[in-house]
Amino acid sequence: MVTAQPSLATKIGKLELAFPTLMGSGCYGSGEEFAPYVDLSKIGAVVLKSVTRLPRLGNPTPRLVHTPAGMLNAIGLQNPGIEWYLARELHKYADRPCKIVGSVAGFSLDDYAYTCERLAARDEIAAIELNASCPNVASEGETFACDPVLTAKVVRAVRGTTDKTLIVKLSPNVTDIAVIAREAEAAGADALGVINTVRGMAIDVEAWRPRLGNVTGGLSGPAIRPIAVLAVYEVAQAVRIPIVGQGGIETLTDALEFFLAGATAISIGTANFTDPRIPVRIATELRDYLARRNLASIGEIVGKANVGFATAYQYGGDEG
Ligand SMILES: Cc1cc2nc3c(=O)[nH]c(=O)nc-3n(C[C@H](O)[C@H](O)[C@H](O)COP(=O)(O)O)c2cc1C
Repeated sequence: MVTAQPSLATKIGKLELAFPTLMGSGCYGSGEEFAPYVDLSKIGAVVLKSVTRLPRLGNPTPRLVHTPAGMLNAIGLQNPGIEWYLARELHKYADRPCKIVGSVAGFSLDDYAYTCERLAARDEIAAIELNASCPNVASEGETFACDPVLTAKVVRAVRGTTDKTLIVKLSPNVTDIAVIAREAEAAGADALGVINTVRGMAIDVEAWRPRLGNVTGGLSGPAIRPIAVLAVYEVAQAVRIPIVGQGGIETLTDALEFFLAGATAISIGTANFTDPRIPVRIATELRDYLARRNLASIGEIVGKANVGFATAYQYGGDEG
């Protein structure tokens, strides 16, 4: 008897994906460079590099530093600005065999709202990811996603500009990510991206200088995976909207951790720099995993590792 293959389809707000794999913003371009090596019809979506209202040259170099289990980056949101992007870039993505998610960044509420409205209006864009990990220049440079009030304000500002699915990407550089997640949900987010990079630094011990031109950067890759899994686990218990889990995913086991913690989809970023075939491999192996357990869809494993926090409380904390 031939049984039906398990379904890998997933839904994030109104965004329907054939595969639960998104390619992380800033790590996959628009998919074009990967097309010779990867069947793009076998990934869920590409999240584009974040775009801002005005063009940005980015940070001084060096912008990337290799670390033992990942990388530090401080690109500084280099991008041509929304007008150039819309006029010269976006039409090229119309025939991609996967969904295209636009990513918006900004330095004021007005910036975010303007850029989001312009980008979301285009047919090539299936959904919007809000990269709220930028400093608000009107508020002493405080990062939007690191403050619950600013998070609520920026989500409300962009929510009013589009009906398309809005994925709000959260920063791990906060005391309690669940508080921020609740604010984003209440302000109208359709889904949450958990997590963006973790702040970090590396020092050149010969030159006695920071190794990044920007001094600090964002850590990504396997080094941040346990941080990300915990963040997904905590956020899943705080909100009802779907979560796109991300942070150091390289293998099926990594991906499963995120689904079991409560993610409805996963995003793969840094791993693509070493092997862009990883997302398709994970999808294939995920289908086999579900089939071996006679499960019909990934929905059946989402959040299934939720045992609350009883053990940590019982032993008075988890510091070791
Ligand atoms: C080089 C590089 C550039 C990135 N650029 C962006 C960006 O423009 N916007 C954004 O929201 N996230 C950006 N990210 C964060 C990733 O999309 C992803 O959320 C993060 O790296 C964690 O996932 P990973 O460990 O799989 O890379 C960037 C990450 C890297 C490594």
